[in-house]
Amino acid sequence: MKTAICPGTFDPITSGHLDVIARSAPFFERFIVAVSANPLKSPMFDLKERMDFAQRAVRAIPGLENVEVDCFEGLLVDYAKHMKATAIVKGLRAISDFEYEFQMAQMNHKMDESLETFFVMASSEYSFLSSSAIRELVFYGGCIEGLVPSGIEQDIIRSFERRPVRKGKERFNGYIC
Ligand code: PNS
Repeated sequence: MKTAICPGTFDPITSGHLDVIARSAPFFERFIVAVSANPLKSPMFDLKERMDFAQRAVRAIPGLENVEVDCFEGLLVDYAKHMKATAIVKGLRAISDFEYEFQMAQMNHKMDESLETFFVMASSEYSFLSSSAIRELVFYGGCIEGLVPSGIEQDIIRSFERRPVRKGKERFNGYIC
């Protein structure tokens, strides 16, 4: 069975991620959206929430029955071996993504030569979109409609609002700094 892994921090999943998933999944028998715990990035949303957002986004798209959402911690190559996956699928937006993704693909290939990385170009309507932009919009109360999968938009905002205000932060002109 041809199994692919689409790894990411998904903090949170965006419409761009979902577009790449929906376009890539039909090429594989089993397609695993693997949410990385990624403690090095200190994600805004916890792992359970990120998985839940991804799961609901995927389930809302008809025809993605071969897609499952899972999580992993540690090296991607180890997780891929554990899942018997032979392919990694990643979205590419712009030249700015290329250097990092190229390095990751080569590192992964060096560690496991049987693992091949496939890049899928972002659709033009999402080429500007990133999880970090979504986090910034949510932080400043901007509109994220259409930028994240429709069914999870309000949950992303609510989850952000539920976050405890970090100690040491002060209110300045009405804002928390
Ligand atoms: O969505 P992101 O943040 O670009 O995803 C990055 C991710 C999770 C795919 C990458 O950080 C990763 O693979 N992390 C697991 C650790 C690992 O295997 N790193 C690559 C070798 S240094």
